[in-house]
Amino acid sequence: MKILVTGGAGFIGTHLVDELLKQNHEVLVFDNLSTGRIDNISKEAAFVKGDITSKYDIFKLPKDFDAVYHLAGLLDVKASLNNPSYYTTTNVVGTSNILEFCKDNNIKKFIYASSCASEKPISSPYALTKYLPEYYCNMYNNLFDIDTLNVRFYNVYGENMNVSGYRLVLSIFLEKFSLGEPLPIVGDGEQTRDFIYVGDIISGLISALKPNNTNIRTINLGTNQAISINQIVKMFGSPKTTNIPERDEPKHITPADINPAKDLLNWEPKMKLEKWIKTQIQ
Ligand SMILES: NC(=O)c1ccc[n+]([C@@H]2O[C@H](COP(=O)([O-])OP(=O)(O)OC[C@H]3O[C@@H](n4cnc5c(N)ncnc54)[C@H](O)[C@@H]3O)[C@@H](O)[C@H]2O)c1
Repeated sequence: MKILVTGGAGFIGTHLVDELLKQNHEVLVFDNLSTGRIDNISKEAAFVKGDITSKYDIFKLPKDFDAVYHLAGLLDVKASLNNPSYYTTTNVVGTSNILEFCKDNNIKKFIYASSCASEKPISSPYALTKYLPEYYCNMYNNLFDIDTLNVRFYNVYGENMNVSGYRLVLSIFLEKFSLGEPLPIVGDGEQTRDFIYVGDIISGLISALKPNNTNIRTINLGTNQAISINQIVKMFGSPKTTNIPERDEPKHITPADINPAKDLLNWEPKMKLEKWIKTQIQ
């Protein structure tokens, strides 16, 4: 298939592009390189530098894709509180632009990288700007017969995690651990998240490429397990820690309900967080 990957220069996008190429798909990456890096994109993929908020940039793209993975977006919760309209333009209008591109060019498959932040209660501008595009996707499915799927990623970790801009706690812990510095714990460390390995996200995304004849339009990719920051510190072998002030973020997350992903894709996560950490710190 000929596949467009927006945000294909980013952390998750580069893993996806590599796997699509491995499966002999033809891939084009569309990315403005705001957080993504061109060096990370496989030389076998075509690349167009452009912005999902610019109709002019989108117009430069070839039109004959069989499917689109839409991963481009902004994902820093804190930054979204300072600049909600920028997040709305990029995440909401940008997604609407790419859906419109699909409609105009008869592209019938659209897979949207949503987030666990779309689960209620909506707690930040970031969350709202990930949630609203799910409705756009559903609407394009209903009105224009595009096979859309909202794929809510939980907290994704893995090789080549972002080391600048928005960073997952695991990326910070690995860096501090390798430098022999204390691991910084926000608040009391009892906050929980559902951490999912990037390889498991990619296997779900690849399975999602097959036609969907069901009514399932939203799935969660997580592990269905809540893990606290203190538990992660133990997985690192309980090194020294330091405490930093609590943030205005949800304390606990409801672990992913992965039944829709099991039903639709026959998908299950395989990697265990503790095992992955061990491979990284040995
Ligand atoms: N990493 C996670 O834990 C996580 C969790 C839930 C959802 N997601 C979603 O997955 C997607 C990918 O996340 P990631 O972790 O790979 O982040 P990332 O920042 O590494 O990748 C995002 C990519 O989008 C590009 N981009 C940003 N704004 C753009 C614009 N206006 N036009 C074109 N390209 C633009 C960036 O340059 C980057 O390459 C995002 O939509 C994010 O909301 C990620």
